[in-house]
Amino acid sequence: MTERVIALVDAGRHQPLPPPVPQVAGPARDRLGRVLRDLRISVTDRCNFRCVYCMPKEVFGKDYPYLAHDQLLSFEEIARLAQVFVDQGIEKIRLTGGEPLLRRNIEHLVEMLAAIKLPDGRSVELTLTTNGSLLAKKARALRDAGLHRVTVSLDALDDPTFMAMNDADFPVAKVLAGIAAADAAGLAPVKINMVVKRGVNEHSILPMARRFKGSGHVLRFIEFMDVGATNGWRMDDVIPSSEIIRLIGAQLPLEPVDRNYPGEVAERWRYRDGSGEIGVISSVTQAFCRSCTRARISTEGMLYTCLFATSGYDFRALLRGGKSDAEIRAAIAAVWAARADRYSEIRTAQTARERKIEMSYIGG
Ligand code: GTP
Ligand code: 5AD
Ligand code: SF4
Ligand code: SF4
Repeated sequence: MTERVIALVDAGRHQPLPPPVPQVAGPARDRLGRVLRDLRISVTDRCNFRCVYCMPKEVFGKDYPYLAHDQLLSFEEIARLAQVFVDQGIEKIRLTGGEPLLRRNIEHLVEMLAAIKLPDGRSVELTLTTNGSLLAKKARALRDAGLHRVTVSLDALDDPTFMAMNDADFPVAKVLAGIAAADAAGLAPVKINMVVKRGVNEHSILPMARRFKGSGHVLRFIEFMDVGATNGWRMDDVIPSSEIIRLIGAQLPLEPVDRNYPGEVAERWRYRDGSGEIGVISSVTQAFCRSCTRARISTEGMLYTCLFATSGYDFRALLRGGKSDAEIRAAIAAVWAARADRYSEIRTAQTARERKIEMSYIGG
């Protein structure tokens, strides 16, 4: 197999900080009036899966230049940055990767982040997105360290289809064991994310719905997106959420439910027989940029204001350059004030081909 070479510089592309803005009372707002509420932190660019929609094997092969340890933010740097973000309005933190449970002693980072308090004294909401492979082993320790919830990715219930998606020969049973362990440890409600790719796992939609109906877990179907520059995305591979709701609803009657909170990415539906709810995440066919409150910190400390960004802001340089918390906070305010991203609303076949940052580096 020939590997396509992606230049290392891609990962760290960054731009100068925007000019400072005056401190305002109340939450920071961007150019489209959106507040800053959620922070996603990628703790590793590595993963033990090679999902075809995220880290295709022909690109992420054995010679792929992952980040070296000193390029990653340390736990102390992450915790400090997270505190400054919380002072600037963040209420929810999600740890992502790559696969976040591959980062050594991740429980220790969870413990440090769980200690962060919002200005009104409440704890920050702390969650994590995982492929579930190490969850059976780690769920209890994560819960004990103060993690609130987990979201587990699972794209099929039969091994041949799941393995065609994860491309790492990883069996379904181990992920199901991870989900059960998370539930037993109290990391609930467990959310399960299924990326749907036409012709690959669409036949798993109904079996997945049936399997998790009545389980107390919340299954969400995600439209295959053109994140990164390596997954060969084509509109033809996307199954619109409306089609998924029609398909499931014809067998297992559904009704819509209001969003849990403003800016929630999933549209919620519940089974009419009261046996739980599902969600659909329609980033391609029904963009939700208008209420996007998310900022992302990459594995090496770049701040990105959109999942589809082509460059970020170098916060590691600020952390390691002796800047004070107040200076870092002012930099966050300036970046957020300058933000005008709404990629999913303006997606075209042309933008889908742009050299965007990889999801394994910026985090889901
Ligand atoms: P909770 O409501 O706290 O459970 O989190 P969430 O709904 O934000 O869920 P999660 O982080 O699991 O996001 C689910 C999926 O939605 C991600 O894996 C992405 O595929 C997609 N997604 C999340 N945030 C964005 C975003 O800002 N833009 C786009 N386009 N897609 C997103
Ligand atoms: N399209 C949609 N979702 C994706 N994810 C990763 N790559 C893509 C993509 N191309 C999401 C999946 C996975 C999480 C880590 O990131 O939901 O569960
Ligand atoms: Fe790994 Fe998650 Fe990407 Fe799959 S989607 S390759 S599990 S980071
Ligand atoms: Fe937010 Fe960018 Fe996703 Fe739109 S495309 S919802 S702006 S991250």
